[in-house]
Amino acid sequence: MAMNRRDFGKAFSAAMGATLVPSVVTPDALRAVTLPQHALRPDGKAIQLDSNENPYGPSPAACAAITGSEPVACRYPDISDEHMVAKLSSFYQLPPRQILIGCGSTEILRCADMAFLGAGKGAIAAEPTFETVLGYARVMQANPIKVAQTADHRHDLKAMAAAANDAKDAAGLVYVCNPNNPTGTIVSMAELDAFMKAVPATVPVLVDEAYFDFVTDPGYGTVYPWIARYPNLIVARTFSKVYGMAGMRLGYALGSAENIGAMRTYKLGMNGNVAVLQAAMASFGDDAHVADQRRKMIATREWLYAELKKDGREYIPSHGNFVMINLKSDVSPTIAAFRERGILVGRKFPSMDNWLRITIGKPEEMQAFVSGLRKIVPA
Ligand SMILES: Cc1ncc(COP(=O)(O)O)c(C=O)c1O
Repeated sequence: MAMNRRDFGKAFSAAMGATLVPSVVTPDALRAVTLPQHALRPDGKAIQLDSNENPYGPSPAACAAITGSEPVACRYPDISDEHMVAKLSSFYQLPPRQILIGCGSTEILRCADMAFLGAGKGAIAAEPTFETVLGYARVMQANPIKVAQTADHRHDLKAMAAAANDAKDAAGLVYVCNPNNPTGTIVSMAELDAFMKAVPATVPVLVDEAYFDFVTDPGYGTVYPWIARYPNLIVARTFSKVYGMAGMRLGYALGSAENIGAMRTYKLGMNGNVAVLQAAMASFGDDAHVADQRRKMIATREWLYAELKKDGREYIPSHGNFVMINLKSDVSPTIAAFRERGILVGRKFPSMDNWLRITIGKPEEMQAFVSGLRKIVPA
């Protein structure tokens, strides 16, 4: 069965922690420590609504490019990498030295932590948010500084700017996730502009726009055009969400030549494989495909909202392909009960114990989720 990265991590640690470490961790061994057999559907798959993936997968053009990449599969990816950067460079009107390709945007976040953090430095982020930046910050022996969200579940940018100016916090990096994972809320361009003015110019600010393509709010926008004005600004993007390529691993950063240069030092050499780069080049800027993915996702999200409303359940209106639902009691048993039914949901976010994050899947997957929810947590 397909397994997400957290399950793989857990399975791997479980296998490694066992008294007898198998010489080869077989797929069967991994399956045994993840989903119970009865949770598997006849096709061996679980319904995966726990990692904000796009269930529709890569565009037809991307799939054709993957198949067509066979002739270059024997070559190192330097040339494909150059072509990808050239494509991004012409789209964003930024020179190649201001662009960094990553093995997913995860590598971008890690490179930022490695470049800007270290012992005694502070990594400032909202609570809750996507944890990767704070996770690698700990690896760098930096101090994670979590700034509580506002009452309407948004980044408290004023408090984050205050932390960035507080000498005792020794800010090395500020992370703004917009839209925010897991709350799905956004901060507007006007709010971000005021924030950039308030943060010291010496402190890098990484704005993670992983879910950019799903937002329709007129007050929202990408901030990469501000890089010349605010050289401390770095923008991260990914092919994992609207482009449906989470398993293929490609993301990138846009920033000043100085900051991107500092981050580049820490990237893995030849970090993008040729099939992925070909697929990304084929789908990047395919506006019709992006619009189609957004339309499908929004229609399914609206359907979910209507079902939640019928049940009188509280949820946070989302700008991403995921929604937080208030279950009014700890979500852990509910996540486990869904898992028994072969539906992966969650995970639990520490400061929002009672809120279940659910990824917007295909309509039939969401129907299975809603009927499961009605049985597990009756309204
Ligand atoms: C806000 C955010 N940033 C980055 C990532 C990492 O994505 P990837 O490494 O697949 O590009 C995720 C994944 O869920 C995310 O939610």
